[in-house]
This record gives sequence, structure tokens and C-alpha cells, in this order.
Amino acid sequence: MRHWLKLGEAIIPGTNQVISLFQGKDDFFIKLSGGQELMSTRKHGSEDALGTLPCKRILGSRSTRVLIGGMGMGFTLAAALKSVGPDSEVTVAEIIPEVVEWNRGPLGERSGRPLDDPRTRVYRGDVANLLRESPGYFDVIALDVDNGPEGLTVDSNNWLYSTVGIVAAQEALKPKGILAYWSAGPDQAFHDRLRQSGFLVEEVRVHAHGSKGALHTIWLATIDGKMD
Ligand SMILES: C[S@@+](CC[C@H](N)C(=O)[O-])C[C@H]1O[C@@H](n2cnc3c(N)ncnc32)[C@H](O)[C@@H]1O
Repeated sequence: MRHWLKLGEAIIPGTNQVISLFQGKDDFFIKLSGGQELMSTRKHGSEDALGTLPCKRILGSRSTRVLIGGMGMGFTLAAALKSVGPDSEVTVAEIIPEVVEWNRGPLGERSGRPLDDPRTRVYRGDVANLLRESPGYFDVIALDVDNGPEGLTVDSNNWLYSTVGIVAAQEALKPKGILAYWSAGPDQAFHDRLRQSGFLVEEVRVHAHGSKGALHTIWLATIDGKMD
């Protein structure tokens, strides 16, 4: 902690929690005021996979419409941009305005500055609102707004993992679209809610970093079961 430089802080909307961006010797960290690490640039294998896995399954399209929620350190956004065609549109929804600014600043180097890509759109606000406003719009929706269906930093994000939230995401997809969620670990109740909402569900485990580290969970859900 002694050798870390604090680059900024922000309040998480709807809470009294403060998050801060720190720069260490080799990496950046976002921490809660109590010291709990929320994100770091050290390990992002599963965040990359969240962007890559669903986008690679939309085959043969030059113009894929993707929604990433939220921005974090930009790795999922960057991976999605690498996986879609030149006429695609990749919208990143981020509820904390400062997080977007941090990614425009020094943090952005780590993910290859995906905000500078002309295919990127930024939605500043709650991804839940964008889902409700976008019926039948997206080919891919990839959600990583917190630790997963349990242990949320922002209580209102419970909605996104509830049956009502899952159905709202389903309605924001095109008929053959893919919905993906990231989680720190498995959650059978959430898996079941996806299936009960009419999805065929594939559950994938991905290491936090290369072939090492904690195993994170990604759910890939399709309406018609046509996954390659
Ligand atoms: C775990 S990070 C995402 C990490 C990201 N996948 C990456 O590659 O770095 C979660 C992000 O979602 C944002 N967030 C949380 N709730 C949100 C919501 N309801 N709508 C939009 N963004 C949200 C947080 O501010 C944070 O930046």
C-alpha cells in the first residue's frame, strides 16, 4: 500500500461506498474504502473470455451489435472488439462516470484503449435501463457488473440476476442472440433461473490468468439452442 499512488476516487451511485483507483509498481487496482480489492489489471483471463466467447459464436457477421455491462478495466470491451467485424457496434454501459474517465486516462493503456475504437459507444448509466430501452437490438449481451449473482456491491444489481432481469435481457436480444454472464463462482440457482427463462445454458469455467489462478464461471445462454 505504501508505494501505491492514488489516482482518483468515486462514489458508487445509490450507495455510500467509495471506490478508489490506485497505481502500484506494475499494475492498477480499484478498491473499496475498506481496502477490499474489486478489480486489478493483474489477472483478466476470464474478463477477456467474457468478451471473446459469445462474440465468436456470432459467425460470419460484419456488423454485430454487442452490449458490455460494465466497463471496469476495459478488458471485456477490448476482447469483444477483437472478436467482431469492422461494421460492428460495441456499447459499454458503465454506472460510475469516473470509471469511464479512468479508462480514458492512464488505466486505458492496459486494455489497449478500447474507448478510442470507432466501433465503441459509451452508455453512462445503469445497464438495466439500457436493457429495458433496447427491445430486440443486441446480438450479444455480456454482463459483468459485480462478483456474480451473489455478494453484490450494488444491491440494485440483484434485479439483473432475477428472473425479471433475465427476461429483460432476453427481450433486448435479437432472436438468435447470446446472453453471457460472468461470476466469481458457480451458482446453481442462477443457472436454473436462466433455464427456466427459456434459455439453453452452457456453463464454462475459465482461469483468472492463463491456466492458473481461481476458476471463474461464465454462463452462455441462447434462446434456440443453436450454439456452435
Ligand atoms: C467487475 S467490473 C467489470 C470488469 C470488466 N469485465 C473488465 O473487463 O474489466 C464491474 C463494473 O460494472 C460497473 N457497474 C456496476 N453496476 C452497474 C450497472 N448496474 N450498470 C452499469 N455498470 C455497472 C462497475 O462500476 C464496474 O466498473
